[in-house]
Amino acid sequence: MSKVVKRIAVLVSGGGTNLQALIDAQRRGEIINGEIAAVIASKPGVYALERAKRAKIPGYVVARKDFPDSRAMTVALVDKLKSLDIDLVVLAGFMVILTKEMVQAYPNAILNVHPALIPSFCGEGYYGLHVHEKALEYGVKLSGATVHFVSEECDGGPIVLQKAVAVEENDTPETLQRRIMEQAEWVILPRAVSLFCQGRLKVEGRTVRILKPLNLSKECLQ
Ligand code: GAR
Repeated sequence: MSKVVKRIAVLVSGGGTNLQALIDAQRRGEIINGEIAAVIASKPGVYALERAKRAKIPGYVVARKDFPDSRAMTVALVDKLKSLDIDLVVLAGFMVILTKEMVQAYPNAILNVHPALIPSFCGEGYYGLHVHEKALEYGVKLSGATVHFVSEECDGGPIVLQKAVAVEENDTPETLQRRIMEQAEWVILPRAVSLFCQGRLKVEGRTVRILKPLNLSKECLQ
């Protein structure tokens, strides 16, 4: 029988505002059947680790610079996740591209938040502020965020949730990034994590079906 409470690890590389959104959602009781059990950073000293500390969540560093290549780093990361008995891995602003060993260890159990409406503005080279620079350069009127399962293809796994955000006339990459975080990322990431922990995400090929809640009270219907 599967565990009732899923143990979540959040992987970070920077400021950790998405981690904070998860911590805040957990405090409000919105991560149903899940607990953030670990925060793992790809470099020491990032502010996300400070957020973890304040929330009394154990923080770890598996630094890219300590390994000869990304495969070696990925293998060390998988070992760490397994030793912590993690059920769900969340990439929340994690800026290292992991190799296939990670997906093989956690099939359909890794969620990533991407700051655009996939399949637009995604793939290698599209991360952080660059995504918003590209969206503005292209002149799109709508952008947004996507939470998807991680597959072996960069940003190519099945989509769980998306939310659109309007581009405004005087947007800079920074203003667009902030609005997409506030209106989309910080909303859909905790929601997707909670759905996963409730066992309500069913992957059918490229499509993710969201199942109705079982035996849950009305206030859990989100
Ligand atoms: C977020 O906008 C996240 O979507 C993006 O980096 C930012 C991290 O911010 N991730 C990617 O671009 C991954 N391809 P945060 O550290 O404040 O959560």
